[in-house]
Amino acid sequence: MQFELSHIDKVYISADEIKVYGAHDVSIKIPEGQFMALVGPSGSGKTTILNLIAGLILPTNGTLKHGDADITSMSLEQRTQHRLDYMGFVFQDYQLLPILTAAENIEFPLQLKGFSKKEINERVNWALAQVGLEKLGNRFPKQLSGGQQQRVSIARAIAGRPQLILADEPTANLDSKTAAEIIELFLKLNKEFNLTFIFSTHDQRLIDQVRSVLYVQDGRISEKKVNNV
Ligand SMILES: Nc1ncnc2c1ncn2[C@@H]1O[C@H](COP(=O)(O)OP(=O)(O)OP(=O)(O)O)[C@@H](O)[C@H]1O
Ligand SMILES: [Mg+2]
Repeated sequence: MQFELSHIDKVYISADEIKVYGAHDVSIKIPEGQFMALVGPSGSGKTTILNLIAGLILPTNGTLKHGDADITSMSLEQRTQHRLDYMGFVFQDYQLLPILTAAENIEFPLQLKGFSKKEINERVNWALAQVGLEKLGNRFPKQLSGGQQQRVSIARAIAGRPQLILADEPTANLDSKTAAEIIELFLKLNKEFNLTFIFSTHDQRLIDQVRSVLYVQDGRISEKKVNNV
């Protein structure tokens, strides 16, 4: 199902009561299987757009649809459920819980989704295998390299079999070689499962690999570029 943002504004009120447009008349169609990046300077609105698509924040104006479902008209509970059903998240700093092992970190959202113990085990093993960490499920985050921690967070994001992965600066903390491996992994998951990816990034290595680049400036999409990859 396609995500469609139509004329979305997100207005924040700053501490000194000045209006700031986090998003300004943003219209984007995101077909299933898209592999795209939001690119722009700090404060341009990339994270705001990801948070809007996730239903974590609501637009001030405009509509956001997933297929026929209007996310902007859902209740908070419905948006939370919709997020659990369809989306996975990857962050710059991995956001793994330090007191849980890699496998337990992956398990955690699956428990929220109410899967049986058996199904959870199958999905955790499947997700660990997808990211090449089948032998490291018992390690704690601090016993893993940055790249391995990011693989765990990707496993956590895909274990619920979402349609869409929202990844906020996923390669920013990684060295070149590791970043290239993580980008390969994203591409593999995109091709194999037609999994949609939306990245926020400054990373040229990632920008070069995506199919569509949206440049964001002062909350607006200032330019769209299609890569021949
Ligand atoms: N909760 C908030 N309250 C007030 N202003 C906010 C809030 N969140 C974001 N903003 C403002 O909205 C604008 C867009 O912020 P956003 O975090 O989306 O940018 P970004 O492109 O992700 O930046 P970065 O590259 O630094 O992560 C900025 O001016 C920011 O200060
Ligand atoms: Mg950001």
